[in-house]
Amino acid sequence: MAPSNKEVYSLLCFIGSFIMVLGDKYILEEVDIPKSNSDLKIFTGEELKRFDGSDPSLPIYMAVKGVVFDVTTGSDFYGKGASYNVLVGKDSTRAVAKMSLDSADLNHDLTGLTDQELKSLDEVYKGVYVQKYPIVGYMDYKMAENTIKNKLEL
Ligand code: HEM
Repeated sequence: MAPSNKEVYSLLCFIGSFIMVLGDKYILEEVDIPKSNSDLKIFTGEELKRFDGSDPSLPIYMAVKGVVFDVTTGSDFYGKGASYNVLVGKDSTRAVAKMSLDSADLNHDLTGLTDQELKSLDEVYKGVYVQKYPIVGYMDYKMAENTIKNKLEL
């Protein structure tokens, strides 16, 4: 039996909305990791912990999107007792994306973030962190992702 006009119309609407949803999807920009730079360090989450502003003899480090920044010059924001101190000594990608200081968001899990949050993450990453702070290294999880990506591209 041939499909009715109504059925054809419903199918087109379904395909159309699917394309619209895909078209709107925000894809997080990739991080460029230099191929060889012996000055750059690879950090585990554990190693990053001591750079949380509690020891004044150490710099303050914070990772966003797996990139570790030296945010010591922003100690008014990030130093001990300052408003954004919870963000440092760790990878706070999720917190930055959601503009949240909630302990549940102080990690690099991107699960369930909205397009708007992902877009905002890229804007703050580029507009604040890349602009203001020197990069001192990369998180081990980001290096692992990058290795997998390079292998797939071979
Ligand atoms: C009542 C809520 C908030 C107010 C009034 C506020 C206010 C501000 C202001 C005025 C600045 C700019 C300071 C400057 O450049 O001189 C700033 C920067 C910033 N805020 Fe907020 N903020 C709020 C909440 C949050 C939350 C919840 C987050 C969570 C991640 C956040 C993350 C940041 C970041 C990452 C910066 C950039 C710091 C830097 O330059 O290193 N803010 N905020």
